[in-house]
Amino acid sequence: MSRSLLSFLLLSSPLSLIGPSVAHPAEVRPQDSFQHESGHSCTNLVIPFNVTENSDGHFEDDNYSIEVLHNFMDFRDFRTATYHISGIYCTPPAQATNKQDTIQMLVHGATFSKIMWDWPWQPEKYSWTRRMHAEGYPTLAFDLIGSGNSSHPHPLYEVQTQLIVEQVHHIIKLLKAGQIGGMKYDKVAYIGFSIASIAGVSLAYQVPDAIDALVLHGFTWDIQDLYPAFLSGLQVAANGLEKPEWKKYAAEYTTQMNPAGRQAAVFYGDFDPEIVPVDFYLRDLDTLGLSISLAYHLVTPNLYKGPVMLANGDQDATFCGRSCGSAPYALYDRFPNATDHDIKVYPQAGHGIHLHNHAQQLMDDTLAFLKRNGF
Ligand SMILES: *[C@@H]1O[C@H](CO)[C@@H](O)[C@H](O)[C@H]1NC(C)=O
Ligand SMILES: *[C@@H]1O[C@H](CO)[C@@H](O)[C@H](O)[C@H]1NC(C)=O
Ligand SMILES: *[C@@H]1O[C@H](CO)[C@@H](O)[C@H](O)[C@H]1NC(C)=O
Ligand SMILES: *[C@@H]1O[C@H](CO)[C@@H](O)[C@H](O)[C@H]1NC(C)=O
Repeated sequence: MSRSLLSFLLLSSPLSLIGPSVAHPAEVRPQDSFQHESGHSCTNLVIPFNVTENSDGHFEDDNYSIEVLHNFMDFRDFRTATYHISGIYCTPPAQATNKQDTIQMLVHGATFSKIMWDWPWQPEKYSWTRRMHAEGYPTLAFDLIGSGNSSHPHPLYEVQTQLIVEQVHHIIKLLKAGQIGGMKYDKVAYIGFSIASIAGVSLAYQVPDAIDALVLHGFTWDIQDLYPAFLSGLQVAANGLEKPEWKKYAAEYTTQMNPAGRQAAVFYGDFDPEIVPVDFYLRDLDTLGLSISLAYHLVTPNLYKGPVMLANGDQDATFCGRSCGSAPYALYDRFPNATDHDIKVYPQAGHGIHLHNHAQQLMDDTLAFLKRNGF
């Protein structure tokens, strides 16, 4: 391991200012603000989110049954609860031409956290937000419930795909209502990776006008390779692994157990081997509830009328096995009413497309897609 890498792993990032929430605010609560070294300004937020139980029957651990799957299939919530979402809202530096009416909402994948969007190691190459702020876009990145510094409720009955769909919908509504950053955003560009792409597709199906532009990274509808991929990624109970902060979680909070399994899940082909230990160190959690429920959300949003983009690594082990083939082109059939379809498949790349050597190309392509659609 090189010295610069080692010192990176030992140093804390700007995100270390964000602590887990202790209070229970009813409104979005700004915690602290700071000027980023590259000129943009950011504010850490705690965003409350209420959910009401509507499952058919109330389930506890000891009465798990096939009915649980039926409730996943029907997009139900199993608990009434208030959750806390840890977010970071940033506005571009003064010299950039501010997009004003558009915000990029950045939603991470399972076993990642909001840190994936402002990658702290070699940010000039990998940080999505740094690039987008320079291009004039404000951004909101946040931790999904069950990840990062957001709430960690029951990993089967609560942290499941429908909760994520409702969480992202809640945040879009707050952005449009001017409750985040004091600015009413007319246009929300949803940029999702992996499970967040699935949640974006499902929201576009359930509420077709919620998202204005939909960008899907690291995703296809073809998930025959997904469960073998979980196994080859060697996901195990996180509470037995190296991070002390994971000890308190139930065994259905999972993640990759070793660097080799993580590498198989995230990388292929054209990447810098030095990023592998950084990614392993920054990895976050997945849950049994997400893994079981996500297949029910691979739907066809036939009433969605915005533009849609899909970007994949051709050797995405999680969604495509050895090669994606024609799987990404299902985008046309799955979004028959979309105003624009854009498909990018990067050769020599695995699932974590933001972390390969073509990271800036992915940003160029996403920017071109957004701009030609008026975002
Ligand atoms: C969560 O908060 C801790 C402590 O402030 C910080 O070190 C960590 O980077 C934060 N994680 C995320 C995903 O924001
Ligand atoms: C969410 O629930 C909490 C606790 O029941 C309550 O105090 C709060 O007002 C609710 N917020 C909204 C927006 O309904
Ligand atoms: C699960 O068990 C609890 C008691 O432990 C009971 O109240 C509840 O109705 C049961 N739920 C179902 C769906 O059978
Ligand atoms: C496109 O949307 C309209 C409703 O606006 C719907 O009637 C139609 O069936 C949709 N097209 C397809 C191919 O699903």
